[in-house]
Amino acid sequence: MSQDAKKRQVAEAAFEKVRHLLDSETPIGIGTGSTANCFIDVLAESKIQVLGAVASSKATEERLTHYGIELLDLNATGTLPVYVDGADEADPRLNLIKGGGAALTREKIIAEASVQFICIADDSKRVDVLGKFPLPVEVIPMARSLVGRALVELGGDPEYRQGVVTDNGNLILDVHGMSITDPKALELAINQIPGVVTCGLFAKRPADILLLASDNDILEFSRDA
Ligand code: A5P
Repeated sequence: MSQDAKKRQVAEAAFEKVRHLLDSETPIGIGTGSTANCFIDVLAESKIQVLGAVASSKATEERLTHYGIELLDLNATGTLPVYVDGADEADPRLNLIKGGGAALTREKIIAEASVQFICIADDSKRVDVLGKFPLPVEVIPMARSLVGRALVELGGDPEYRQGVVTDNGNLILDVHGMSITDPKALELAINQIPGVVTCGLFAKRPADILLLASDNDILEFSRDA
C-alpha cells in the first residue's frame, strides 16, 4: 500500500475514534502535515456539523477555512477534548518527534491543552529510539548561534533550516545525530536554553493513543497499556 493510502486509512480510523465527540458544541484540535490534512479531508467529507477546530498552523487554518470549518481560538475554547495530529517519529512509550512542518510550538500548546492526544501516522514513523529524524527546535532569530552552540554541547549537530520562518516569526534548527534515550530529560534541557521557544520532543506531554497504518491493518497503541 502506498504511504498516501496509509495516511488516508489512519485518518479514517482516527475519525471513527473521535466521531462520538463531533457535534455543534464541541471544539477539537487539529494538527499540521499531510496526515493531519487527510483527517481534515475525512472530517469535511463526513458533512458532520462541528463547532469548529483549533488549528496548529496557518496552513491548517487555510485547509479548514477552505472546507468551511470554523476556526476557534484556544483562549476562548479552554481545554479541548481531543487533538488529532501526525508525527515524524514515535517510540514505544508514545514519545514523539514533531516539527517537520515547523508547527511544533502551536502543536505543543494544543497537545498540552487537550484531554486526549491521538497521534496518526504510517508505520514508517515507529522507532525504538527517537533521533534518526533530525530534532526540530524553534528559536528566536537573534539567539540562533547561541542556541546552536548549546545544542552542540548537548551532543547534537544543529542545522539551520534555510528559508523557513515559523508562523510565530522564528527560525528552526534541525538537530542531527542525537540518540534520544531519555526524551523527557532532553526536552527539558533544550527548552531551558535562552532563545529556544520549544523543541519538537513531545515527552513531557506524549500522545495518549498512537494509530499506525501498516500494509494490512491499523495498529493501535495506548500509553496506558
Ligand atoms: C508538523 O510540524 C509536524 O509536527 C507534523 O505533524 C509531522 O511533520 C508529520 O507530518 P506528516 O503527516 O506530513 O508526515
